[in-house]
Amino acid sequence: MSVIDEVKQRLDIVDVVASYVPDLKKAGRNFKAICPFHAEKTPSFFVFPERQSWHCFGACGTGGDAFSFVMKKEGVDFGEALRILAQKAGVALSPPERSEAQQQSQKLKELNEAAAQYYHHLLLNSSVAQQARDYLARRGVSEKAIEDFQLGFSPPEWEALRGQMARHGYSDSDLLAAGLLVEKEQGGAYDRFRNRLMFPIRSSDGRVMGFGARALDDSLPKYTNSPQTAIFDKSSVLYGVDRARSAIRKEDLAIVVEGYMDVVMAHQHGFSNVVASLGTALTEKQVGAIKKLTRNITLALDADAAGQMAMLRGQEVISQTFSQPSSVAGWTDVRYENPYNARWKVVILPQGKDPDEIIREGPEEWQRLVDGATPVIDYVFQVVASKVDLAELDGKSAAVDQLLPIVSEIKDPVSQAHYLQKLSRLVGVNERDLASALSRVRARSRARQRDPVQPSTLVSSLQAKDPLADYCLSLLVRYPELRRCSEELSADLFPHSESRQLLLAWRECGDCDSIRTKLDPALREYLDSLTAKPLPPMTETQREEAMTDCIYRLRQRWLRDMKAKEEALISDMQCGDAAELDEVQRLALEINVQLRQAFLHKQKRTRSSEVGA
Ligand code: GTP
Ligand code: MN
Repeated sequence: MSVIDEVKQRLDIVDVVASYVPDLKKAGRNFKAICPFHAEKTPSFFVFPERQSWHCFGACGTGGDAFSFVMKKEGVDFGEALRILAQKAGVALSPPERSEAQQQSQKLKELNEAAAQYYHHLLLNSSVAQQARDYLARRGVSEKAIEDFQLGFSPPEWEALRGQMARHGYSDSDLLAAGLLVEKEQGGAYDRFRNRLMFPIRSSDGRVMGFGARALDDSLPKYTNSPQTAIFDKSSVLYGVDRARSAIRKEDLAIVVEGYMDVVMAHQHGFSNVVASLGTALTEKQVGAIKKLTRNITLALDADAAGQMAMLRGQEVISQTFSQPSSVAGWTDVRYENPYNARWKVVILPQGKDPDEIIREGPEEWQRLVDGATPVIDYVFQVVASKVDLAELDGKSAAVDQLLPIVSEIKDPVSQAHYLQKLSRLVGVNERDLASALSRVRARSRARQRDPVQPSTLVSSLQAKDPLADYCLSLLVRYPELRRCSEELSADLFPHSESRQLLLAWRECGDCDSIRTKLDPALREYLDSLTAKPLPPMTETQREEAMTDCIYRLRQRWLRDMKAKEEALISDMQCGDAAELDEVQRLALEINVQLRQAFLHKQKRTRSSEVGA
């Protein structure tokens, strides 16, 4: 039995939750409380002892097992939650493997730190760095900013860093693992960064994880970054977050720009709540990191990016802005709030200028732009309105087609009503008509998420083992190409946290080896059991079919599970508060509709026909 199973077996989720939520009360066979994750007046947070799971039927709409509860409540990763729960359960965790992984990442951090110091020292002192110093002076970077960000210079040699590090006892293999060297085909290795301005990239606790390196002239590529390593993950890093975090908290706002230089300049001029996403759309992980500090995010988009976005449809604008797949209630990875709220804004920068130039020319102009930021959803309205002819019927329908689905996903009712009104004014259509169209859109967008479902044996989430999840995950780890058809696979579909963790890790990295290093050591055993699982020989098409089938079955199971939970609630509430009962019944009804649609799809099977509301 694995440590995880042992912990699960020894702990009752009711005790675990009760230790954080003292007002947890018995409600029939289950337990309920005011949700610990969002503000509410009547309890919609439930714990189901028989399933050893919890679920919030209110604004969170999310749930999971004891591990996910602790992760969410304590804001920790799976490994940390396991440690907390293992201690509660009196289960000893085997230390050796964990400390080995920790030692490795400790070493990588040390190496990166040492390299940052070396590059910084060269920038300040060496004669070969004269052109780099001139370059920074030309761009108006102050000495203080150079110090603060520990900017550096990598000399135009093949083995400068390698030699320096060897003198300090670091081996080539360590340096390779840290991404500081590149391996030669015929053996040996050379410095990855040469003749470049070095930007150490730090985690929010200030440890150097990797580098961005800029060419000093027009040579290409303009930037090279550290490759993905055990400690450096480009999609989760925010440049400058270590220096910005306290200002972000204090001002309750994070401003996200694209470039390293933009961050350095902003901070130099006192705008300390600025971080960079490293030239890409903001990822979910980056958003997650920001959300630990504030819920207000303003994105600075350059005019080109804004122009490109204007070519997109409404929904796509949002997903491009945040590289977040368009979300549909119920199927989203619920840890991330959707961006359809007024706290997420954009600033469109003047043509041809980036924040660095704007700030250098006049900090007040930057302040003015930030103050005038537009909520993302208003921006989407603008984009759509600018593309269609609102005087024509066609244009009006196009605007409604693009904007109504977005309005339908706004969770806050007041805000939803506001944008419904805005849409009604924009297209000159009666608000009541739009509202009824809205409920149709909602039902349809849910139906669209559901495809034919194979009736299958219900694998109860009560069981400690989850063969369906294991099968699905072993397909994924075995056949990386299945990524294509697994986009709709949401971690929520798995009842057990270990399956969720594995899916998330797999999403982050391509091959099995890097998943292994990414995973908490306690989960490696699980990964190994999946890779060792015998699978029948399958053609590529068969694999894809197997995957799609798995997803259908997981969804169907999820719906049934939700249904069962809601039925349990209703029966427990027969003597309860009428309004409460109403609410749960409404939810149960919704699930019924979804279930029925899932089965309807199964009968039709043809993908093209879409089930209406
Ligand atoms: P300057 O030209 O020095 O002002 O740099 P910048 O930081 O403003 O860069 P720019 O606006 O051109 O690009 C924004 C960000 O995209 C950069 O900070 C990098 O993170 C990333 N980026 C730009 N060019 C490249 C490239 O050639 N390779 C990689 N990997 N990233 C790049
Ligand atoms: Mn720039």
